[in-house]
Amino acid sequence: MTQYPSIKPFLKWAGGKDKLFNQLEIFLPPEIKKGEITNYYEPFLGSGAVFFNLIKQQTFEKVVLSDINEELILVYTVIQNDVEELIQILDQLKSRYLQLSESDKEKFYYDLRTAYNYMRFNINYKKYSNAWIPRAAQMIFLNKTCYNGLYRQNLRGDFNVPFGKNFSPPLYEYDNMLLISSILKKTNILISDFEDILDQVPQDSFVYLDPPYRPISKTARFNDYYKLGFNEKDNDRLMHLLKILNQNGVKFMLNNSFKVNDEYVQKYYSQYNIAFIKANRMMSSIPNKRNKVSEIVITNY
Ligand SMILES: C[S@@+](CC[C@H](N)C(=O)[O-])C[C@H]1O[C@@H](n2cnc3c(N)ncnc32)[C@H](O)[C@@H]1O
Repeated sequence: MTQYPSIKPFLKWAGGKDKLFNQLEIFLPPEIKKGEITNYYEPFLGSGAVFFNLIKQQTFEKVVLSDINEELILVYTVIQNDVEELIQILDQLKSRYLQLSESDKEKFYYDLRTAYNYMRFNINYKKYSNAWIPRAAQMIFLNKTCYNGLYRQNLRGDFNVPFGKNFSPPLYEYDNMLLISSILKKTNILISDFEDILDQVPQDSFVYLDPPYRPISKTARFNDYYKLGFNEKDNDRLMHLLKILNQNGVKFMLNNSFKVNDEYVQKYYSQYNIAFIKANRMMSSIPNKRNKVSEIVITNY
């Protein structure tokens, strides 16, 4: 795989690691820099910030990118297969939106959100089709015009984020989209629960794991990226799989939230290396209450 110095994520994503990559980079296994690791796995892909930063400098023979959120992976798959058609639809959406008054823009957003939620019953997420292309364009449009670039689903699976009052959003950057498309053509992109991916990782691989964070306080926002959420059972499943990866000699790095005196850290991470980084995060349900908080970086090398 060739190198792509200017590539960057194309979506906004809660918990996205683009701004933290400089801090995370320090903890990557040295074998990556030496080109001795040939396979890369990222099973909680989100905006793919770590992959897109890594690929600026590194090459891998095999890359597996996955996430349980089918709407997210649908977008990646469309960029991989039909980027020019996607861009055409994005341009049409943008020019219709830009002509409207501010109140009509809000209405446009909510009408599109309703149609997007309704249309999902017509999409077969297991089989690629032309119907995926306008859906990917709508998802990107909603992502760039919704509140804070959040992706949140209610229990029924409806995307339910309110309008973000972004009246002239850049929906995409042309050169970046083309770069992303060319790189995704050389990757495997899958809708999948992490367990099905981690079950089959070969030895000379590096796995980067960024699961939804455990809430650090009662008012902390839990990341509802997916209708089923991510609970303690999922964390336990993940910890069990880390043990197996470790036994099989696979190198991994995992991020999670941190709170002082957390028994969980002691129980599950004490056998690995634990480091801390500082992140600028939303701390509570009070809007705009951002603070520097510690997060943990777990590695097994
Ligand atoms: C913290 S975000 C990842 C952010 C990403 N590192 C980035 O830079 O944008 C966590 C991701 O895990 C995904 N996820 C939640 N439950 C999952 C599961 N059971 N299996 C795989 N992915 C899951 C969510 O859809 C979400 O995209």
